[in-house]
Amino acid sequence: MESKGQVANGGLPAGAGSDQIPNAKPQKPLALILFGPPGSGKGTQSKLLLKTLDFPQISTGDMLREHVRRGNAVGTKVEAKMKAGILVKDEVVNRLVEERLAQPNAARGFILDGYPRTRAQAETLCGMLAGRGAEAVVIHLVVDYNEVIARLTGRRQCPVCGTLYNLKFKPSKVPGVCDLEGAALIVRDDDREEVIRERLDAYQNQTKPLIEYFREKGKRLYDVDASSEPPEAVFQKILALIQ
Ligand code: AP5
Repeated sequence: MESKGQVANGGLPAGAGSDQIPNAKPQKPLALILFGPPGSGKGTQSKLLLKTLDFPQISTGDMLREHVRRGNAVGTKVEAKMKAGILVKDEVVNRLVEERLAQPNAARGFILDGYPRTRAQAETLCGMLAGRGAEAVVIHLVVDYNEVIARLTGRRQCPVCGTLYNLKFKPSKVPGVCDLEGAALIVRDDDREEVIRERLDAYQNQTKPLIEYFREKGKRLYDVDASSEPPEAVFQKILALIQ
């Protein structure tokens, strides 16, 4: 594991690099937590933010889906729960995040998309952040229930480049085909209406209470209206809050 000093300046010796101020206070790594219900735009905003911040997106949903696609031990363990819209076990996601945060490109900062989702995950994350001397900023994407249903039932994704589309809000130029890759767009297994309701229940009962937890812990937490404006406008609001 890297020491705090190495993490803070990307592994360079203090003062290395022509534009560094010798003995300048090292910047803390930033843990940007995108928080909100299914369909609030966590994935969409992560993809916009990672280009500007040059931070990796750490999406527990994407990591779990990749394990399912590979059919390995983790994938086999979580597949049925994901299809049913139920949260997978804390120890499984905590281990995935811990391993991902140990990779060098997460040393300056990272975007957490879909994690933490339970109190046990939030407590584990706080421990991981303290160990890295990282500062957490929580962006709570606020979207109303009916909007979320419309977004998720209309979501389509490119299996090659991951670009997200929406039948209503962001259609591809040719229906069902990715503008960039020409690949046939896919519908996620858990974007059926009855599963969406299950996922929203899990959010309401297990995840939403974390807002209070973040407040108790004194984390920087911002509510951002993500219901009424297009993704680019929401992105600008987030940037203004974190810069
Ligand atoms: P995960 O993959 O994390 O899904 P989710 O949280 O349900 O969130 P989504 O990916 O559905 O939505 P999003 O907020 O990213 O919205 P998006 O940008 O795609 O989790 C899936 C499953 O994995 C869970 O159910 C659970 O089983 C398991 N899991 C994952 N993490 C876990 C954890 N930590 N613990 C336990 N289990 C875990 O946008 C949605 C649509 O809206 C798109 O079509 C998009 O184009 C459109 N859109 C976005 N923004 C706007 C806008 N401003 N205006 C109009 N349309 C918009």
